[in-house]
Amino acid sequence: MLNGGEGEAVQKSMEILVALGEIYGAEEMISVSSVQIAGVSYHNLGDAGLEYLETLAGMEARTRVPAMLNPAGMDMQDWRRMGISAEFAEKQQRLVDAFISMGVIPTLTCTPYLIGRSPVVGEHIAWSESSAVTYANSVLGAMTNREGGPSALAAAITGRTSKYGMHLESERRPQVTVGVTSESSGIPAFGALGKATGSKIGNRIPYICGIRKASMEELKTFSASIATYGGTPLFYMQGITREPPSIPEEYVQIHEEEIQDAFHSLNDDEEKVDFVSVGCPHCSKDELKRIAEALQGKKLKTEFWIAVSREVKEDADKRGYTSIIEDSGAKFACDTCMAVAPLKGRFKLMATDSAKACYYARGSNGFKTRFGSLDQCIEAAMTGEWRS
Ligand code: F3S
Repeated sequence: MLNGGEGEAVQKSMEILVALGEIYGAEEMISVSSVQIAGVSYHNLGDAGLEYLETLAGMEARTRVPAMLNPAGMDMQDWRRMGISAEFAEKQQRLVDAFISMGVIPTLTCTPYLIGRSPVVGEHIAWSESSAVTYANSVLGAMTNREGGPSALAAAITGRTSKYGMHLESERRPQVTVGVTSESSGIPAFGALGKATGSKIGNRIPYICGIRKASMEELKTFSASIATYGGTPLFYMQGITREPPSIPEEYVQIHEEEIQDAFHSLNDDEEKVDFVSVGCPHCSKDELKRIAEALQGKKLKTEFWIAVSREVKEDADKRGYTSIIEDSGAKFACDTCMAVAPLKGRFKLMATDSAKACYYARGSNGFKTRFGSLDQCIEAAMTGEWRS
């Protein structure tokens, strides 16, 4: 592959993987069974990214293993309703088409594990999106580094990756034991816990003790938050994930006040909400059910986005939730999310139940944020006011 015997696209892809392997001291390469590629939005890739992908597609690049896409910059079907310009839509469509022509499956989601594409324990994969990577390593027991967009695509084209980092059992040992005494549950509580933990331990791998139970949705939001605010691609949670191979001696405690501080730090002082966004990471079927129940009979005043994969949304269509949700004025943001859509300058204060969404709303879009429960978000969307 490296010598060009299998074509230029394969050669260029292998060069990327070899360079990474050399940087990280890998001794060999391994096969991967699935790939998830981030860096799909035209908002982030721009014309340079579009040219790179179209050039690669023109070299007859083809994927060798199932490869999926992270969210794009717009709902690929309903972009007009989301206020996306025709010029942006045309470029975004070309980007997705370039991926499709290489054989990439346009899943356009950060939660491929919710649409039947879960790896099993010990499976080597090459995924990109940070919450998906952390969830796959920690909850599903798969093995993946956090790939960049180009290295993930290179893995898809070669079916290989360099064996370092999370692909090595020796690198997956926890480094710090984290004691948590909080009894809080729910999506915002786990988001705040992820922020408090990530901020305290950085990118070290934690063994988290003291949490009695966690739903799939709580683990999904925790994965997103700890990866965003700390950077670890892996955590262990006593009695909830697989047990770690060893218990770290270093111990830190996360106190209830620290979780509360994390919670408050995501709340700016402003009250006038003009945008509400839920579904970061993309919603599960159960979350859509809960959103539909909460929106039943309500009328929203502000823009309200529910980020979700198209497959999960289609399930809501069948179960009758879509009409309830859309009758309220809320919009599905299929294939996309508030972080990768071109929203800068469109809104001032975003309300959300996702700690990770606050990070991107502030950092990428310059919004102020309000962070709380789904019910608080719906109340804010109905009145345009945040009530603490
Ligand atoms: Fe997914 Fe977008 Fe959040 S990619 S994790 S919904 S920032």
